[in-house]
Amino acid sequence: VAWKSDEHGYAAHRVKILLLGASGQLGAELRRSLAPLGELTTPSRSDCDLMQPCTVRRCVRVLRPDIIVNAAAWTDVEGAEQAAAQAMAVNGAALTVLAEQARACHALLVHYSSDYVFDGRLGRAYVESDAPNPLSAYGRSKLAGDEAARQADRHLILRAGWLYGLHGDNFLKTLLTLMRQRAQLDVVADQFGTPTSTELLADVTAQVLARYLHAHADARADFAFGTYHVAASGDTHWYGYACQIAEQARAVGWPLRLADDGLRAIDSSAWFSQVLRPRDSRLDTTRLRATFGLRLPPWQDGVQRMVTQLIEGAH
Ligand SMILES: NC(=O)c1ccc[n+]([C@@H]2O[C@H](COP(=O)([O-])OP(=O)(O)OC[C@H]3O[C@@H](n4cnc5c(N)ncnc54)[C@H](OP(=O)(O)O)[C@@H]3O)[C@@H](O)[C@H]2O)c1
Repeated sequence: VAWKSDEHGYAAHRVKILLLGASGQLGAELRRSLAPLGELTTPSRSDCDLMQPCTVRRCVRVLRPDIIVNAAAWTDVEGAEQAAAQAMAVNGAALTVLAEQARACHALLVHYSSDYVFDGRLGRAYVESDAPNPLSAYGRSKLAGDEAARQADRHLILRAGWLYGLHGDNFLKTLLTLMRQRAQLDVVADQFGTPTSTELLADVTAQVLARYLHAHADARADFAFGTYHVAASGDTHWYGYACQIAEQARAVGWPLRLADDGLRAIDSSAWFSQVLRPRDSRLDTTRLRATFGLRLPPWQDGVQRMVTQLIEGAH
């Protein structure tokens, strides 16, 4: 159990953490990773609805948290094109309210950003200071959220992409299902990024927060707040990711219909989507690793772990 120390370094009170979006893919992992850091409160959407600022204000005022972790978001990327105002309300405007509330109770605001704030045309991995240029309504709403979150004096924006986890839907789980149903699959080979587990992102969050909480009260105000890119190490395209999933699934004996040569690399122009996606949204994690002394494991390790966990869960 973590205790926040007062100016003399003595335990003053139990650290209170407000976690929004605990029912989501990332939120489920944060529930696990943040639990040892303090007293975790995880309101449901009906108790703290980002569409309704009064419920957010009430939630923060009642709890007076030391840390607010916002894993809640509008994540329906295709749906955001038709419901841009709602996506903006949840991913953008709500962050203005959260930042204002964090400021009022001197809380640290932790928020999650997306690689979709970039257009993917840079030709190298993005660093935090590269100019954003979102291609989609979802990307624009996430960018608005980043800008609003920065209004909190104490903020950490952790930007990620290509997330997968045990909870919720994602590319890895969809591909495993399709590999059991079909002998052949076409997968895009001209979009680049790094598959990153929600488990890793949640663990990184906890590591960074532990450093913040362990800092002396005076030093805490000078903490290395700001934006950080978080990703497993290495990169690939969706086709390379699919090959890795198939290889791991075969290695752990997952029964596949997929033929040995059943994965076919295609160009994204052959795949219809209403949403423009960044073609190359690799994220440079140097700042995170250098600031907090963290090591980020190869992306293949996480995929292997997840496939093994899924097959164990299926028995
Ligand atoms: N998934 C990715 O590949 C990816 C990539 C980069 C960044 N991110 C970012 O990572 C964060 C977590 O994403 P995720 O994949 O874990 O999302 P997710 O699985 O879709 O979960 C979203 C969470 O937000 C909650 N929520 C939605 N609308 C809400 C509202 N109006 N008020 C309160 N809560 C609301 C949902 O609650 P209900 O259970 O009630 O629906 C759920 O708990 C987001 O900021 C996302 O933009 C995701």
